[in-house]
Amino acid sequence: MALLNILRFPDPRLATVAKPVQAVDERIRTLVRDMAETMYAAPGIGLAATQVNVHEQVVVLDLSETKDDLQVFINPQIVAQSVETEVCEEGCLSVPGIYDQVERSMRVTVEALDLDGKKFKVEADGMLAVCLQHEIDHLQGTVFVEHLSRLKQTRIKTRLQKQAKAL
Ligand code: NI
Repeated sequence: MALLNILRFPDPRLATVAKPVQAVDERIRTLVRDMAETMYAAPGIGLAATQVNVHEQVVVLDLSETKDDLQVFINPQIVAQSVETEVCEEGCLSVPGIYDQVERSMRVTVEALDLDGKKFKVEADGMLAVCLQHEIDHLQGTVFVEHLSRLKQTRIKTRLQKQAKAL
């Protein structure tokens, strides 16, 4: 197990488009374990491989209060989404201390592979729908703040650059 370094916005590597995982093998299972450890330690509720500078389509989530319900999505694809949208406050381990409202589909259907390489499908709403869209965005090189206005994005970049300098 290892803690991985989380890239911070506006690191240009966060804009990389992740490639599909070719084989769900020991290397991927180790990546998933390390990503889970990194997410729990942060602490956070979701992490995409892009955020730890691995550009393959892997997402981990744990939305439980008790932090014992790890969900793993390999090569996740949104196969259906509702036209109805919902606005939720989001945050991100790559954008520490920043929270803002993002509008997304209320419901999504996602297909992915599990740790055994088996295909599964989830019909998500609520928090799970929000998180899946947020994490799948990461795999496509998009950070949630890029859904905000240009002005807000500029402000957030300035604030994070100041924080980074202060460290
Ligand atoms: Ni994020």
